[in-house]
Parts: sequence; C-alpha cells; structure tokens
Amino acid sequence: MEMKVDNVELTNIAVRQSQYPEDNKKEFLLVGRSNVGKSSFINSIIARKNYARTSSKPGKTQTLNFYLINNMFYLVDVPGYGYAAVNKTTQKKLGLMIEEYIKNRENLTKVFLLIDYRHKPMEDDVIMYDFLKYYNLDITIIATKYDKVPNNQKQKQDKLIKDAFKLSEEDSFIHFSSLTKKGREEVYNLINDSLNTEN
Ligand code: GTP
Ligand code: MG
Repeated sequence: MEMKVDNVELTNIAVRQSQYPEDNKKEFLLVGRSNVGKSSFINSIIARKNYARTSSKPGKTQTLNFYLINNMFYLVDVPGYGYAAVNKTTQKKLGLMIEEYIKNRENLTKVFLLIDYRHKPMEDDVIMYDFLKYYNLDITIIATKYDKVPNNQKQKQDKLIKDAFKLSEEDSFIHFSSLTKKGREEVYNLINDSLNTEN
C-alpha cells in the first residue's frame, strides 16, 4: 500500500526518558552501525531530501530523534554503533542511552535493524539482533545500499545475512536502497500492518 506522508515533525530530541514523547503513539526504531544509512532510510520513508540529517562522516546522530509522521506514529533515529572515532566514553554513553530506550519503552512497536548489504554482517550487528530478540521485539532486518551490490554478488550476500543471523524462511529481510527507493513499499506495508494490530 502506498503511504502518503503529509506531515513530518521532529518533535522530541531526547537523551533521557523524561524527554520522550508523552502522547503514547506507536514507535518504530532504526538501529544499526554508524554510516549504514539510518537517517537516509528515514528520509526515503518520509520522501524528504535531507530532513533527517545524513552525512558521509559517521557519527552524525548523537541523540534519540523522534519524527512524528502524519500525526500517527514515530520513527526513532538513534546514534549508530561501532564507530571507532567516537571516543570510548561517548560510545558507552550512547550505548546506554539506546539500551535504556529499548528496555523500557512500551510504545516501541517494531525495530528495523539496518545492515550494509555490501558486507558480511559484523559481530556487533549479531549482538544487537540477539539483544533485541531477548527483549522479544518484532525485528525486521533491512539490507541497505542495495544499489551498490552487483547482481552476481547478491546471492552470496543473501546467504551471508541468513547465516549470520540464523534466519529461517519466515524471518524475512528487506533489500533496501535509499537511492532507488527499493524496499520502500515493503516497509510501508510492515508499518501499516503494525499500526493495524492491537497494541
Ligand atoms: P550515523 O548517524 O552516523 O549513525 O549514520 P546513518 O546510519 O544515519 O547513515 P546516513 O543515513 O547518514 O548515511 C551514511 C552515508 O551512506 C551517506 O553518505 C548516505 O548518502 C549513504 N547512503 C545511505 N543509504 C544509502 C543507499 O541506500 N545507497 C547508497 N548508494 N548510499 C547510501
Ligand atoms: Mg544518522
């Protein structure tokens, strides 16, 4: 189903729970390594050019950013993990901030775990996946930068992903490109399904 985004508003920039939205709408979280394309993913979902700030320099996003879409639900952009040039103390602080959100947030409806389709999933991607599973969250893996992988390598990359996360047939993942809009419809469908499900 096509989703028409009429309204986008960055309503909350949070580092702690008291700064989260208070209107009790469903929230969809984007997680993944730094530079994987979380902010670009949000921009393509909302069909805006650079509303969520993107950068070729990793480590751009440093807060929990709540984007209210059509006054109906939130997309939550968070700092990426695994960026070595962000110092250890800051990395630790950002990690705890995301962990606190994931562990406690009742409005959290679904998580999109973004990984770079060009590479073998990294250890910290698998750790994040297992962490999310442990908290019983509904997870969809999004393989970004699909446009950058040549056709003759796609089968190999698919297998690397399935093996790394031990995915079964029903655990689907989505090929995504913020450049070509590939995967956008599938994401809209998943969001719509979640919005139409009780709690
Ligand atoms: P942090 O905020 O540092 O965690 O990064 P991020 O995950 O938000 O990544 P961001 O969206 O800023 O994208 C990082 C870089 O990858 C930018 O230069 C984007 O233009 C590029 N990029 C993101 N998605 C795609 C994609 O699907 N295809 C291509 N070719 N480039 C992409
Ligand atoms: Mg970002």
